[in-house]
Amino acid sequence: MSNNIPIMTLDGPAGAGKGTVSRAIAKTLGWQYLDSGAIYRSLAIAVQDAGVLLDDIGGIVDIANKMDLRFGSGEAPSVFLYGQSITDRITSETCGHITSKIAANGLVRQALLQKQREFCRFPGLVADGRDMGTVVFPEAKYKVYLTASAEERAKRRFKQLKEKGIDVSLMGLAKEIEERDRRDMERSVAPLKMADGAVLVDSSDMRIDEVIDRCLGLLAA
Ligand code: DC
Repeated sequence: MSNNIPIMTLDGPAGAGKGTVSRAIAKTLGWQYLDSGAIYRSLAIAVQDAGVLLDDIGGIVDIANKMDLRFGSGEAPSVFLYGQSITDRITSETCGHITSKIAANGLVRQALLQKQREFCRFPGLVADGRDMGTVVFPEAKYKVYLTASAEERAKRRFKQLKEKGIDVSLMGLAKEIEERDRRDMERSVAPLKMADGAVLVDSSDMRIDEVIDRCLGLLAA
């Protein structure tokens, strides 16, 4: 499937630091970066914009098959849906919540599979998500399950949103993260779990550079 292109997968719950760590690893190695969560989140935005209801799976799959989605190539993450920037819209907690509901459906996940696999190009790929090492790239040579305590993850996400000027309550955020984790882990299709052969990294008490070094260390092992 990946034609010997090296792949590192990073799966884990919301707020574990996967995005920051994956981006840094991809930059260090000069590899492609797949933010699979952004693809799912973009679909949620496209579904909302089209006025399609969340239980209309046929309608959602149709949008997933047709949506024109592009990622900016600059340093800062940017996402364009039908040519319009949706970068800010996809980062909201509400979007994350709706996304997690849509992502629980197998037909929806199937429709997004190819889009994700297209990111696998030379010289390598860092793939960030929930099922990167289990379903999308099971053949990946380097697999990480990145987690942190629920409290630490809520705090980090709170700080991130505050920095963006988004007002949220820490308690509300912790509750939403917990609910989203449960849904992502308990769904019957491609649930969040440790892939076979994955290395567990608990970043609760680690600095971000330590997490990055730990993941990069896998290449040397
Ligand atoms: O990583 P994220 O927070 O941007 O992901 C948002 C939601 O998308 C997450 O709660 C579940 C879903 N998702 C998924 O089901 N599979 C992925 N590979 C990535 C994200």
